[in-house]
Amino acid sequence: MRVPFIDLTAQYNEVKAETDASVAEILSSGAYVLGKYNKKLEEDIAARHGVKHAICVNSGTDALRILMQAADIQPGDEVITTAFTFVATAETVAQLGAVPVFVDIDPATMCIDVNAIEAAITPKTRAILPVHLFGQLCDVKALMALAEKHNLILFEDSAQVIYGHHDGVYTGNWGIGAGISFYVTKNLGAAGDGGMILTNDPEIDRRSRSIRIHGMGRERYYYDELGYTSRLAELQAAILCAKLPKLDEWNENRAKIAAIYLDRLAGSGIRLPETMAGNNHVWHQFTIQYEHRDGLMKHLGEQGIASAIFYPVPLHLHEPYAHYGHGEGSLPITERVSKECLSLPVHQHMTEEQANLVADEILAFVAKAPVAAG
Ligand SMILES: Cc1ncc(COP(=O)(O)O)c(C=O)c1O
Repeated sequence: MRVPFIDLTAQYNEVKAETDASVAEILSSGAYVLGKYNKKLEEDIAARHGVKHAICVNSGTDALRILMQAADIQPGDEVITTAFTFVATAETVAQLGAVPVFVDIDPATMCIDVNAIEAAITPKTRAILPVHLFGQLCDVKALMALAEKHNLILFEDSAQVIYGHHDGVYTGNWGIGAGISFYVTKNLGAAGDGGMILTNDPEIDRRSRSIRIHGMGRERYYYDELGYTSRLAELQAAILCAKLPKLDEWNENRAKIAAIYLDRLAGSGIRLPETMAGNNHVWHQFTIQYEHRDGLMKHLGEQGIASAIFYPVPLHLHEPYAHYGHGEGSLPITERVSKECLSLPVHQHMTEEQANLVADEILAFVAKAPVAAG
């Protein structure tokens, strides 16, 4: 591959000494569970995001599931969300017995269309679950106002955004709480699964800590509610702690690569991702929209350039979500974007030369389209 989608070996090599030392220390000490690295990760990320509480859990999926349970989302509650996201967003709603209600997206940011939400509110609506997609926040101020107006809980699916903020206010502060993912490919990725809940609410903090250990309460082996096995492995916490000091530099490199794409592809006929005013975009993905997407992807692949489709089929068209009643054609922008979206490589170890090569090949393809396009 001339331009891989991500380079995990390069990440490890940059923090090899710290990682190896802490992993060896944990293995030899036997302090495998909820130790000092879990604590440090929680403290460091809470401090940076300016939230009172951060709770390490086993995945971003569990972060959302536990957060919503801790906020008392009940069976039958309706939760307004987006279908243009990773499955965990709606899956966790459904697993709590609640009902995901999908609304369309804004084609410029591909985040939830705040103007579409009000029409979806019913007497059963309890919450809004927007997704900060591809590295930038949704229209958080409008979402907050809407939640307040209708007395709804606002959650943040911040799985794809760490260190992201709007007007200086980081994710985790806009609603009752946010879920972050440390999955391998995230801007801050573990060597496996990991996640975190961010909140300013002491009761959400208390219940989340309990739910992540089977609902265990103040006393060992006494249970207050149903929970899960969802501790973050101490080895993963140590690996994440070793990477955390690099995250600003790594995000800056992503931004540099994104700036090259934005500059080189401007006016090419390709729809480029737009950053909402006030957002700092951490470029988890750089996702373009293009009607000849499949042909372009094939061309890039033939040139040794990786790309990926997030997301090929929106959630409302998958079998487990079909019974919620959003048929084909119900979310026209979501459905169009799913057919046209393509994420280009934008990882922390990409070089400017590689970004220019990607841009060269896209421009070469576009110049020949639609004749050569598929
Ligand atoms: C938008 C979104 N929500 C939730 C998740 C779930 O996170 P995890 O894979 O860590 O369970 C992801 C991760 O891929 C995601 O992208």
